[in-house]
Amino acid sequence: MSVSHFTFRGRAVPFRPGESVAAALLEAGILDFGRDANGAQLRYFCGIGACQSCLVRIDGRLVEACLTPAAAGTAVLAVGD
Ligand code: FES
Repeated sequence: MSVSHFTFRGRAVPFRPGESVAAALLEAGILDFGRDANGAQLRYFCGIGACQSCLVRIDGRLVEACLTPAAAGTAVLAVGD
C-alpha cells in the first residue's frame, strides 16, 4: 500500500489512501491540533463532524480534520498558525 505525506505545522505526516487528516495525525501520535480563538485545545473528539474540536487550517480555510481527506503535499496548520 502506498504512503504519501502532508505536513502539520511543518512536520511530515504519512497517510494511506482514503485516510482523513485527523486519522493520519492520530496515527502519527499528534493528539494536540492547536488552540482555538478562545484558547481551548483542539483535538479529535467525535469523528463525525459534529463537535468542531478538530479544526485545522488548510489553504487558509478552517476545516474539520476528521472530515477532510488527507492529500499529498498539503500544508496543514493549527487554527492560530
Ligand atoms: S472530531 Fe468532531 S468535528 Fe472532527
